[in-house]
Amino acid sequence: MLRGRIDDRFSTVHLGGLNLDPREARTIRRIKILGCGTSYHAGLIGAGLIESMARIPADAEPASEFRYRNPVVDPDTLYIAVSQSGETYDVLAAVQELKRKGARVLGVVNVVGSAIAREADGGVYVHAGPEVCVVSTKCFTNTVTAFALLALHLGRIRDLSVTDGKRIIEGLRKLPAQIEEILKTEDQIKEIAAEYAGAQSMMFIGRVRGYPVALEASLKLKEISYIHAEAYPASELKHGPLALIEPALPTVAIVPDDDLLEKNRAALEEIKARSGRILAVAHQPQPKADHTIVVPKNEDELDPILMGIPLQLLAYHTALAMGRDIDKPRNLAKSVTVE
Ligand code: M6R
Repeated sequence: MLRGRIDDRFSTVHLGGLNLDPREARTIRRIKILGCGTSYHAGLIGAGLIESMARIPADAEPASEFRYRNPVVDPDTLYIAVSQSGETYDVLAAVQELKRKGARVLGVVNVVGSAIAREADGGVYVHAGPEVCVVSTKCFTNTVTAFALLALHLGRIRDLSVTDGKRIIEGLRKLPAQIEEILKTEDQIKEIAAEYAGAQSMMFIGRVRGYPVALEASLKLKEISYIHAEAYPASELKHGPLALIEPALPTVAIVPDDDLLEKNRAALEEIKARSGRILAVAHQPQPKADHTIVVPKNEDELDPILMGIPLQLLAYHTALAMGRDIDKPRNLAKSVTVE
């Protein structure tokens, strides 16, 4: 993923297949990211990375919704289609509709030479290697990293300083060792999973960067364990979901050490006050949590890449404890090539 792409001299990255020269990159006024399932969640994190590093307004939308709402296609908007397989029908159809209307579409795709990669005007290959299991895990982590590279690239063409570019590159370089550290917590995660395996339902919460991580963790859990799971922005709890909190509904909270730490801690207090059980994924043990999985701190922007990994392991071990078929969850196919 990083090999051969980092340019230390200019504190940026080279993305060979992007087909977007710096002049064109400066004219982009908005970025719209389209994907389905896990790829959509990776796109949500990608939109946040692009906004914070390149200061281009960006958002993500399920491709399956986008293509049916007769979207306004704006010539100053850059569209990005995200897909592991590169064959997901809803994403491909959205790309074809956009191209038909004259839009520029890039791909962030894993499978080289796939239909979406071929249709796109250019893009970034994720290079996560073949992903055989129906459940997308390593591709999620690598897709978010690919978005970090794209955001850095666009940022350095626009207003991201050399200092910030260097900071992000240092953060990217730390990722492999930090992922190794997270994998060492697998035994702890397995024990926690054994506790949660009997739950009927689970709540996942996060704020801003943490919210798409919560969405993805909730999808992972429901997909392979069949436990009902919901994800909410932590800030929305008091607007409804707090009513669900009771000892039988565990909450998984994403609590990074960033400018929203105190806000996240306040949400944990609200949950504890209703006798809710809490599992925190955080950079330091959380006093209100029953368990904390501590992950290494990276740059704020890159933290979501790491915080998703223990929750993939949580879903895996919960499903295993429940005797589920992890590689082939019921009712699902690896590539959804039909509507
Ligand atoms: O191949 P794609 O990334 O386009 O697939 C999109 C979704 O079908 C896929 O991410 C799905 O949500 C996975 N089963 C999630 O683990």
